[in-house]
Amino acid sequence: MTTVRLQLNGEACSVEASPVTSLLAAIRQAGLTGTQGACEEGECGSCSVLLDDALVCSCLVPAAACDGARVTTVEGVVAPDLAAALAAHGAVQCGFCTPGFVVAATALLDGDEPLDHATAAHALAGNLCRCTGYQPILAAVLEVDRARRG
Ligand code: FES
Ligand code: FES
Repeated sequence: MTTVRLQLNGEACSVEASPVTSLLAAIRQAGLTGTQGACEEGECGSCSVLLDDALVCSCLVPAAACDGARVTTVEGVVAPDLAAALAAHGAVQCGFCTPGFVVAATALLDGDEPLDHATAAHALAGNLCRCTGYQPILAAVLEVDRARRG
């Protein structure tokens, strides 16, 4: 086992990781259970986190490769406007996909260019949702983008 030091949502923490421990497992071992694991094969996006500001599927990243990294999980995202828009559009049903969408949308909304439907749909295509049909999620993200840009 190796000790991996992380800046997890701005807090220093350390976790014990074997060579096959994923970042997803390490995050959950650290007590943050908002990040979900479904496929654990990089297919569903439910485990999305920001790793030094890059959006990654944490199930695919070895924890041992993250020593010293900054990791932002859904618990570290402060976006009340996005939360309100998702709720208003009925974009949260079972909620399993929601943490991943919140993190992925946060990365997307930090971009320089205004979003359109096609761009947002393409950017969020790595996040799967079995409940909503995607349109409420996209409507919420586009609404937040418009509002933030005034
Ligand atoms: S659990 Fe990581 S992509 Fe599905
Ligand atoms: S709300 Fe159920 S999987 Fe997306």
